[in-house]
Amino acid sequence: MDKRFWEQRWQNDQIGFHRGDVNPHLVAYVGRLGLGPGAKIFVPLCGKSVDMLWLQQQGYRVLGVEFSEIAVGSFFAESDLVPVKQTQSKFTAWRGGNIEILRGNAFDLGEEDLAGIDAVYDRAALIALPPALRRNYTRMLIEHIPKTAKMLMVSMEYPQSQMDGPPFSVHSEEIHGLFGDAFTIDPLLEQDILAENARFRDRGLTSLVEKVYILKR
Ligand SMILES: C[S@@+](CC[C@H](N)C(=O)[O-])C[C@H]1O[C@@H](n2cnc3c(N)ncnc32)[C@H](O)[C@@H]1O
Repeated sequence: MDKRFWEQRWQNDQIGFHRGDVNPHLVAYVGRLGLGPGAKIFVPLCGKSVDMLWLQQQGYRVLGVEFSEIAVGSFFAESDLVPVKQTQSKFTAWRGGNIEILRGNAFDLGEEDLAGIDAVYDRAALIALPPALRRNYTRMLIEHIPKTAKMLMVSMEYPQSQMDGPPFSVHSEEIHGLFGDAFTIDPLLEQDILAENARFRDRGLTSLVEKVYILKR
């Protein structure tokens, strides 16, 4: 899934992953990250997620990273925030309120970009990536986020033979394989979500389970 793939998805408004409401798992489990007021949360592959606005409302600072200019532009246009744009190394940084989105490739992020991150919120980020890119994603996080940062991750499992990703099915075993050397991984929730996902049933899925984890160093 390269940049062109995602840009086409945004251009053609094929953004079934985008939710108009705040993710209930974020609301339920953000407290488990043990964050103080003003903590900085990294939202990789952020799209135009309204979860970033909710995090800001809770008093947190947010750093997102996203390929698509349409996504970043829409995020600010659909919020009350007026962004200021600035070039920052390989990225264009869009800043408004306590939210900053780096438009560019997440794999170009370095330690300086992610300094000061207190937590990572991954919803539909790891599962957006094909297998060949997942190890790069893990490496980016393990190498560049501060050692104290915890992660809240929302993932999905389904029979991969029944549907092509994204979203991909990423099993617990794979998450342990990717992150287990650097993090302890605790499952928080496992939920059958097939009934409420007609778009995936229509694509042939017979089982779909959402899983939420907290990862700590
Ligand atoms: C499945 S969407 C999820 C968006 C968001 N997390 C949400 O919950 O709505 C994945 C997003 O990641 C972006 N993306 C994919 N690969 C990327 C990369 N290497 N760097 C930056 N953004 C990327 C895509 O443009 C897309 O908006």
